Amino acid sequence: MLKTGVLISGRGSNLQSLIAACATPGFPAEIACVISNKADAGGLDHARKANIPAHVIPNRDYPTREAFESALDAKLEEHNVQLVCLAGFMRILTPWFVNRWRDRLINIHPSLLPAFPGLDTHQKAIDYGAKLAGCTVHFVRAEMDHGPIIMQAAVPVLNGDDEQTLAARVLQAEHKAYPQALRLIAENRVNVFEERTFITDATASGEALFNPEA
Ligand code: GAR
Repeated sequence: MLKTGVLISGRGSNLQSLIAACATPGFPAEIACVISNKADAGGLDHARKANIPAHVIPNRDYPTREAFESALDAKLEEHNVQLVCLAGFMRILTPWFVNRWRDRLINIHPSLLPAFPGLDTHQKAIDYGAKLAGCTVHFVRAEMDHGPIIMQAAVPVLNGDDEQTLAARVLQAEHKAYPQALRLIAENRVNVFEERTFITDATASGEALFNPEA
């Protein structure tokens, strides 16, 4: 069982999808702890309800980013965490932390990277006129929203979408993609070579997703 730590800052719907996946029989990972930098993060309740140790480490309590990240690191080590999942964790991590957890630290971002890194991805996709949107699970590197891609899922951008409707469609894809990516890693099927991942025994339908369709 791959011992996984999940870092959150808010609602925690992706955390909930990971908790649900880990609860299914035979799933090869378990959530060893959840850490939030915000005391009022809704996701903490998901952890507590699932009897997962939930910790608050407020970044504001620490004089520097490094001091904050040392506290995160110590808590992850305390729980013997082997893989860290960022799930709506809204702090930029320093190269120290990122390198310490290199290839053991993953993130989910609500766009098809490298398109639309950063915040407001859905509005940016709509404003650009993109016809496909989606999400990306990737290993974390020091550069924000950058790093070897493990998995992506695409959804259409529909006429009349606003930020909320598109975010909701992407979020449904996120809730499938993140557990699948965690499973692949826990099954030791993800290898990083020259900053690309290679997935053992990967399958995909091979079907194209068209928008518009005709
Ligand atoms: C998710 O859409 C996630 O992809 C995004 O924040 C949301 C968190 O929702 N993450 C980022 O934008 C990171 N760059 P959740 O708390 O319900 O999982």
